[in-house]
Amino acid sequence: MAGPIKVTPEMAEFHREISEDALEPLWMAAPEVMLRQPKSKPIPYIWKKASIERHLQKAAEIINFNNGGDRRVLMLINPGMRDLQPYGWGATTQTLSVCVQILLPGEEAPPHRHSQTAIRYIVQGEGAYSAVEGEKVYMCEGDYVITPKHLWHEHEHEGTAPMMWMDCLDTPIIYYLHGTFFEPGPFKKQPITRKPSVGKYLGGMVRPLSDHEPSSAPLPLYKYEPTLAALKGLSDHYDPDPVEGYVVEYINPSNGASANENIGAWLQKLPVGFHGKAHRHVNSVVYHIKEGRGYTLIDGVRFDWEKGDYLVIPTWAYHEHVNVSETEEALLFSTNDIPIFERMELQKVEEYPENGGFQQETGKFDPA
Ligand SMILES: [Fe+2]
Ligand SMILES: [Fe+2]
Repeated sequence: MAGPIKVTPEMAEFHREISEDALEPLWMAAPEVMLRQPKSKPIPYIWKKASIERHLQKAAEIINFNNGGDRRVLMLINPGMRDLQPYGWGATTQTLSVCVQILLPGEEAPPHRHSQTAIRYIVQGEGAYSAVEGEKVYMCEGDYVITPKHLWHEHEHEGTAPMMWMDCLDTPIIYYLHGTFFEPGPFKKQPITRKPSVGKYLGGMVRPLSDHEPSSAPLPLYKYEPTLAALKGLSDHYDPDPVEGYVVEYINPSNGASANENIGAWLQKLPVGFHGKAHRHVNSVVYHIKEGRGYTLIDGVRFDWEKGDYLVIPTWAYHEHVNVSETEEALLFSTNDIPIFERMELQKVEEYPENGGFQQETGKFDPA
């Protein structure tokens, strides 16, 4: 087997020479460029509810759309990606940009469309709607909403208390692929031309005949209550998965694929006392803690979490989830880039091979 290359003075001189002509030696680069296993640039990280909400409240006081701009949004930039310019490409992981948004009663976030695809998970409040390509979708806490790429969308808040939601877009990978297009709306509000899509799927397990020809995003809104009921059906009758507990995925009802083509989304329940086994995968994940409290061990480091926090699991990092409450289930909403990795046939998952599948705790996350 070939070992490391021994660089002779003559080779070193040659490497310098070719570098001046924009050439580099693959025989030197291969071990670093074609790694034996993934090395994540994003790192494990957690954003706490208290700091996110404090900054959002301040933003609500000093940022409005009278001075221009489209959205009052804070991007969760992974510390491992901050060196990317501009703005760390908005990267929470190498593919996903997770943001938090606050909309005040009476506010309108103007229409636009872009080549980034997006999802929303409603963290607090009710009474705002998104208009997506001619359809009005009213959003409440716990609902999941998709805004596929290239579709016109705007928001207006008709309720009485501030609303907050999590956004997730595929901004970093679209930026890296040089596929970015953005267009402000040529109208102040788009005309509402489509009836509520949810009316086509009230049966749950049946789809309308029109879906015999599947479409990429036939349903923009996934309500919280039926999603919770689906999880309850699992936990009432089945043992939890040893790694994940109970999970449902948001799917496109016309073809069974991920609801959003590029961004996977799960709602996950960890029963009381659950301690999941560790595994790792090529895809990255960003969790929003919907309910409960617990911790996740990521490559041995303990990240304590509670309702309202946001947690990143980077590529190929071992992780295991624990619900520490003796009385409350934990509910985790998460987004992932599984659809992208699966489409590229790069997805790979490995169980933790030692200690019965459980990691040793080696430390506690300290943001300092
Ligand atoms: Fe948008
Ligand atoms: Fe995982």
